[in-house]
Amino acid sequence: MQVTQTHPSFTIGEIPVYGDLILAPMDGFSDQPFRSLCRELGSAVSYSEFINALDVLHGHPRLEEKLAFQSEERPLIYQIYDSEPARLVEAALKLRRRGPDAIDLNLGCSDRSVAGRGAGAGMLRDPQRAALAIGMLRRALDIPVTAKMRLGWDDQERNYLTVAQLLEQNGASLIAVHGRTKAQGYSGAADWDAIARIKQAVSVPVIANGDVRSAADIERVLAHTGCDGVMIGRAAIGNPWIFSRLDRDQVSKEQVREVMLRHLERNQAFYGETRGLVLFRKYASRYLSPLRLSVELRKQLLTAETSPDFLEILDRIPA
Ligand SMILES: Cc1cc2nc3c(=O)[nH]c(=O)nc-3n(C[C@H](O)[C@H](O)[C@H](O)COP(=O)(O)O)c2cc1C
Repeated sequence: MQVTQTHPSFTIGEIPVYGDLILAPMDGFSDQPFRSLCRELGSAVSYSEFINALDVLHGHPRLEEKLAFQSEERPLIYQIYDSEPARLVEAALKLRRRGPDAIDLNLGCSDRSVAGRGAGAGMLRDPQRAALAIGMLRRALDIPVTAKMRLGWDDQERNYLTVAQLLEQNGASLIAVHGRTKAQGYSGAADWDAIARIKQAVSVPVIANGDVRSAADIERVLAHTGCDGVMIGRAAIGNPWIFSRLDRDQVSKEQVREVMLRHLERNQAFYGETRGLVLFRKYASRYLSPLRLSVELRKQLLTAETSPDFLEILDRIPA
């Protein structure tokens, strides 16, 4: 179900965005097949999985898969990370040739291998460096530059207002905010009050992110923060219908089956038959989790080696 709107919800620079829900960038999940499915169900923008600037410059076996997108996904944003502003610019200029609509700077990844070297959420410790990176990207590129940030490094360094204002002053066209610090990882609750303060402090569009699990949460976070849109990550795995503002229990088994098949077919078209099925399993397990499947049936489904086998087992699920 495509959301059809005549007026944009907000713009990224000059680019109109029709819809206020967005699939979050998720390494290992927000690939081209899943993104396109979420777009059909109502997600209004596509963010790539995060891309290491070093991989763009030196190559990586998965790079081509991460960069692939379909024209129906526009606006399409490539998300990049690095600690060095100059390297970010070099990588962004190379990525620009692939025709993205915008480049996003990741200021949120909490993984030690990324944040520990001053990239991702690590850059929040040095707001001037984040500002420099955004400014350099902005000047080097002829497309909008956006950022996705956390609230700070830890409870002692919740410098989100400084960071957001510097990002805006240096040319960011949109800011997405995951309402946690780096130290929190994914624990505790996302701080929607802090997101509301950021929205108040800048005039570019702000997208709220963190702990939106249901259709009611969407309306709650919008009302609480006044943000221009909502970004949804984990809850979309298993419930991509959230982009149609539907909870999982509002979706019929037939719809679940139809979307699972569509997703599987796309995965296989994109990754090849065997790898497509294997990579589909992590989604399948989430699609099926609300159904009370017997342990045996579940195991059979998640270990099926061919798609006919998978489909045959899927058909055995009681209506
Ligand atoms: C498996 C996984 C991979 C993620 N990968 C990325 C990423 O590549 N880039 C990014 O900015 N955030 C990434 N995130 C963070 C999400 O975009 C989002 O900020 C976070 O999950 C909070 O939103 P949620 O509560 O809706 O899941 C990832 C999260 C998860 C769970």
